[in-house]
Amino acid sequence: MTTAPPEGPSAAARDLIDLDLGTLNREVFESGPLLRTELATVFTRSWLFLGHESRLSRPGDFTTAVMGQDHVIVTRSRDGRIRAFLNVCRHRGMRVCRADSGSATRFTCSYHGWSYDGTGALVEVPNHDDGYEGRLPLDRWGLVPVTRVESYRGFVFGCWDEDAPPLAEYLDGYRGVLDWATDGLDEPELVGPIKWRLQGNWKLAAEQFANDTYHPQTAHLSATSLLGVNMPTEGRELGSRYGHGWTIILPEDPNYAAFTFGRDPDSAEPGHQALIHGTVFPNFSMLGDRVLRVWHPRSVDDMEIWSWVLVDASWSPEQRRQAMRMATLTFSSTGIVETDDSENWSEIQAVGGGHVTGRTALNYQMGLGSTTTGDPAVPGFTGEVGHILNDVGARAFYRRWLELMEGPAPTLPQTAPAPMPAPSGR
Ligand code: FES
Ligand SMILES: [Fe+2]
Repeated sequence: MTTAPPEGPSAAARDLIDLDLGTLNREVFESGPLLRTELATVFTRSWLFLGHESRLSRPGDFTTAVMGQDHVIVTRSRDGRIRAFLNVCRHRGMRVCRADSGSATRFTCSYHGWSYDGTGALVEVPNHDDGYEGRLPLDRWGLVPVTRVESYRGFVFGCWDEDAPPLAEYLDGYRGVLDWATDGLDEPELVGPIKWRLQGNWKLAAEQFANDTYHPQTAHLSATSLLGVNMPTEGRELGSRYGHGWTIILPEDPNYAAFTFGRDPDSAEPGHQALIHGTVFPNFSMLGDRVLRVWHPRSVDDMEIWSWVLVDASWSPEQRRQAMRMATLTFSSTGIVETDDSENWSEIQAVGGGHVTGRTALNYQMGLGSTTTGDPAVPGFTGEVGHILNDVGARAFYRRWLELMEGPAPTLPQTAPAPMPAPSGR
């Protein structure tokens, strides 16, 4: 079955998604113009994961991150505040900081030597006196600051939109997941990231983590058999108004301990959210309380995956090693579960470029019309909740995606060129 137009690669986002019908045209994974719009709206108006405070404990500590395709430095300044700014020199556009993380009092560009402090201010320009005759207004050529940086439970996010809701509000019911993931940890610490590239549009991964507990019984049959794991049946699928989707397992499920790294279902807090997988819209995903992901869009059919493991700094070396070994065995570039997903996403992309294929509707109808609000299993959550096998998370993801794709781009920080003052006496 094929859908009515869109015609051509620049079809409007609204023509590609029918949320009432629960269908999506696969052009959303194929269109270069749509990616440009995503970068201008979805990735500027959403809170994006930048890193964890465990990497930023002392002034001068920094880590680097990517917001859509915008590379940023995240650092704790001398005043204790966490700031982020574009990792792009204002002189000729060189990457200023070329390390993944570390500690620095200044960021000095390796091309011509412009130097920025921990607040992003331009503090030194070689040949300022003889080359620029002392006239360059240094205060107008600092690194471009990310408009807002906020943290929840040590997870640091940035956003370019002044009018976005506060991070805690944006996270919505997903706060319960981050609470659950970190409650038992004395000193949460992220190890990584491991980075790799994969053929596939970034949304293929983000929407799967937001939603899909349907695929493991088929896609991961070999891996789950090998690991001796049965897929849960007692759980919920959730969809937030901000586009987050996630799946939780309930204590009554016989596989609860296997999916929560041995937690005892009898001592589980009422209303807690034991995560199977989830996505904070648009591209920050988690597997249980252990593996964290960002799916970076490198191009329309190419994503770069950054993957971390959440551990406790106070764990013994052996506990740490075990956590890392399990994560690497299952979910890493060569993990026995990961490669099943990678294969599916890349094959979807590989067969997606055809003219007729591009006009074919895909099915997101599981659970359509059977979700509820106010589910007692998730107290306080006001979004939609469905049975564990339900596309409600993916529908929430694409509802928000469409809302942002059709909405305005935010006003960005001051990036206009500053004029060069005239020489004195002229
Ligand atoms: S590009 Fe950075 S100093 Fe020239
Ligand atoms: Fe999977």
